[in-house]
Amino acid sequence: MLDALDKLPDDPILGLAAACRADPNPQKVDLTVGIYMNEEGVCPVFDAVQLAQRALIESETTKAYLPPAGDADFNRAMQALVLGAGSTALAAGRVTSIQTPGGCGALRIGAEVIHAAAPGATVWVSDPTWPVHIPLLGSVGLKFETYRYYEPASHGVNFSAMLEDIRRAGKGDVVLLHGCCHNPCGADLSLEQWAEVATLAEQQGFTPMVDIAYQGLGDGLEQDAAGLRLLVERLPEVIIAASCSKNLGLYRERTGASLFVTDSPARADAVLSQAQVAARRVYSMPPAHGALLAGRVLNDPDLRENWESELQAMCRRINGLRTSLVSKLQQCTDRDFGFIEREKGMFSFLGLTPEQAQCLRREHSVYMLDSSRINVAGVNGANIDYLAEAVGKVLQGH
Ligand SMILES: Cc1ncc(COP(=O)(O)O)c(C=O)c1O
Repeated sequence: MLDALDKLPDDPILGLAAACRADPNPQKVDLTVGIYMNEEGVCPVFDAVQLAQRALIESETTKAYLPPAGDADFNRAMQALVLGAGSTALAAGRVTSIQTPGGCGALRIGAEVIHAAAPGATVWVSDPTWPVHIPLLGSVGLKFETYRYYEPASHGVNFSAMLEDIRRAGKGDVVLLHGCCHNPCGADLSLEQWAEVATLAEQQGFTPMVDIAYQGLGDGLEQDAAGLRLLVERLPEVIIAASCSKNLGLYRERTGASLFVTDSPARADAVLSQAQVAARRVYSMPPAHGALLAGRVLNDPDLRENWESELQAMCRRINGLRTSLVSKLQQCTDRDFGFIEREKGMFSFLGLTPEQAQCLRREHSVYMLDSSRINVAGVNGANIDYLAEAVGKVLQGH
């Protein structure tokens, strides 16, 4: 039976990261996978997570299954983190959530619930979007339409085109939005633009689904959730996929949450039962370790303070790298790279052609996606000059 299977091509992003690891050039620069890296090029464990982990190991008395909805303390903490402790939807009991294996699990459970409510519903995704959105949501049976979003010429959001496209979405459709730090382009909506999306959702009746995988890495925990919270305050329904991979550094622990804002506590209950059954169908119970750590960090005032200040330092570092990269690239090229500073989070497109991105790899061991998406957090004091000079050479045709 298995002889019917052909070998599939490598995942384009993970394949590039592997090629970088295998490259013997000591000056190689890895700007591929979306993980936060510090000045030493290491993806660190948060101090607060280490402390929580030690305490958990000391006190853990069982490895029995969590329930399909996961850990209750974690779920409560995630609702407050994402929606804000003062959320009126939360106070009204209109919100429910389940712990999931990472943000990917959250997207998948969101998709399962959408499919149960409206089989084969259409999800509107931004052009471009994180490529994994399509198989994650599509394998459930959802269909896709694309709305225009990033405009390469202006290095920004073409908001009027976006509105024109999502005006075609109606009741029973889902519009997938990136909560902050858009992956892959780094160009986010302003608060005024989020408000216009809310108005359109009110008029057209579509349900927004917000993927928030980078809360805290754009401008800060509160600011990065402001657009999403605006939708939640104004609309009867919002579906949210949250990840603890980046902002708590729990990547391999697979920690996330699927949140559902509904129009009534009774509906929240019904949706919770659907989400739990979907989880049972797909993977049964979520992994415990990461959520128990995240729950402790978010709920313990000292650990929380420690975590927030480390997260703020990461956020400042990314924004500082954006500023430095603009000035270094400006010195090495005659292009205006100022847009990098206006974008948020870990990603930006440099605006190079696929041939130029491939040439950077081949000639200079600088690894970025063919789309010229870079992970800004892969830049550091030791490689920034080399990187800017390599981009300069490639732009001059060397
Ligand atoms: C836009 C976006 N959504 C969701 C995720 C899911 O992350 P994870 O499943 O690792 O928590 C990622 C991770 O890279 C992402 O970039």
